[in-house]
Amino acid sequence: MLGAVQLSREARRVENSPARNGRDAGPAGDLRIAPSVLSADFGMLAEQVGEVAAAADWLHVDVMDGHFVPNVTIGPPVVASLRRHTPLFFDCHLMMTEPGRYLPAFAEAGADGCTVHVEIGGTEALIEQMRGLGLRVGLALNPDTPFDAVRPFLGGVDLLLCMTVFPGFGGQSLIADVMPKVAQARAEVEAGALELDIEVDGGIDATTAPVAAAAGANVFVAGSAIFGHPRPWESAEAIRASVRATATGAR
Ligand code: DX5
Ligand code: ZN
Repeated sequence: MLGAVQLSREARRVENSPARNGRDAGPAGDLRIAPSVLSADFGMLAEQVGEVAAAADWLHVDVMDGHFVPNVTIGPPVVASLRRHTPLFFDCHLMMTEPGRYLPAFAEAGADGCTVHVEIGGTEALIEQMRGLGLRVGLALNPDTPFDAVRPFLGGVDLLLCMTVFPGFGGQSLIADVMPKVAQARAEVEAGALELDIEVDGGIDATTAPVAAAAGANVFVAGSAIFGHPRPWESAEAIRASVRATATGAR
């Protein structure tokens, strides 16, 4: 568990952090910061997670298959290894053309939530498969995919991931044109009183998070802004504070 990860003394000192630090996802709509390990040093992943754990609600795990996106990252064995070092909720973002083949392995490895992309099709069956595996269910859409593509599934999922960059790489700039779609999603959630998180991913930092929060996002994924910072936990707390300072629906 966490004891296996050497938290620096400063990292332990993050005070009054509402970070959840447990595998319970928490109520839909709550403000959550989800550091993305994509920008961490893969050679010392457990230590890097330890550096940010006290300031994180979830851990975002980017899985890339070299087909859906032109990049390859990590798979179930790495998730299983990390699972032994932290009790954080694992928010696994599957950028894959055939996630159905791997969902059981991710569940077995210790994923808590999995998010599949609507662009690959077969969404209904994938949602059913994820539910059957006891996973929290997420659905993602790319910046140029219209909201109408996900609308029919909103009642059946726990999380909608609005990509704010084209998936595949960390360190890109947020595409502001996605904000009207985030607002549309939030309006739909309110109108239908849906239990649904709205997550944004790509180019999120303490400057852009408030913009996404104002549009209606409540889960903020950040990779380079957090792990590119010399004190990652400070950056995560700064993103949280920036959202709190914005008048939003995120609690
Ligand atoms: C991009 C990934 C993101 C990535 C974000 O394809 O889905 O989760 O880690 O990285 P930053 O925060 O650096 O844009
Ligand atoms: Zn991601």
